[in-house]
Amino acid sequence: MARKIVVTSGKGGVGKTTVCCNLGVQLARRGYRVIVCDLDFGLNNADVVLGVENRAVYDILDAVEGRCRPRQALVSHPYYPTLFSLSSNRVLERYVSPQAIRLVLEALSAQFDFILIDSPAGIEDGFHRAAACAEEALLVTTPHISALRDADRVAGILSGYRFSFSGLVVNLVRRERRRGELLSPEEIAATLRLPLVASLPEDDKVFSENIIVKSRAFRTLAEAVLGVCAGQRAQGRGR
Ligand SMILES: Nc1ncnc2c1ncn2[C@@H]1O[C@H](COP(=O)(O)OP(=O)(O)OP(=O)(O)O)[C@@H](O)[C@H]1O
Ligand SMILES: [Mg+2]
Repeated sequence: MARKIVVTSGKGGVGKTTVCCNLGVQLARRGYRVIVCDLDFGLNNADVVLGVENRAVYDILDAVEGRCRPRQALVSHPYYPTLFSLSSNRVLERYVSPQAIRLVLEALSAQFDFILIDSPAGIEDGFHRAAACAEEALLVTTPHISALRDADRVAGILSGYRFSFSGLVVNLVRRERRRGELLSPEEIAATLRLPLVASLPEDDKVFSENIIVKSRAFRTLAEAVLGVCAGQRAQGRGR
């Protein structure tokens, strides 16, 4: 069964979609079968970041509403045969329950190793819908004080979801701290009481190309996510 991981944040624009898509690419490069599922209805762009926009015939709402089978809503990536995009191509005109989305993801789960769920920013319905479909969470923040305050609120809400794992990704980290950055990634993790999964540098290549295949930082992120699984298995054996 696939590990379902929601990638979320408090503040917008901190790098959720970048993290979700690059993590997907890194896992697929290691041969894992991965779906990047975009639940940021209305402002969806994971398909653009992955470079598969305009390839989808159906999207997740078609699968939810029975116009296609879940598998038909997947778009395979041209370079990574085990990587798939499950997009949401429209603004939600009516309420879609987390249960409805969960059923679609459950139908796909057996054939995949990872379902990475890109969530909208904030703590509204869309965030809860995305969180309710996952069993693990990665909270993305930048080191800036404005992002940290929002991350703190989201970390509190995430703790109520009882995920099997919640971890922190600090993005846009610079070697030198600048104004508005009070804490290092380690200090941020301690403040938010979440394990630090990865700290990703600000990188001009990420900004211009979105997917950076040879990025050491994203490789480390993928290895840490794979390590979580190994750690959980070891804990299970220890019980
Ligand atoms: N490590 C990085 N280095 C440089 N640029 C980055 C990095 N991470 C993200 N970006 C850039 O920051 C912008 C916002 O990133 P992204 O779209 O991933 O954020 P988001 O959290 O998904 O935003 P939203 O809340 O709108 O969904 C993008 O232009 C992206 O290329
Ligand atoms: Mg996004």
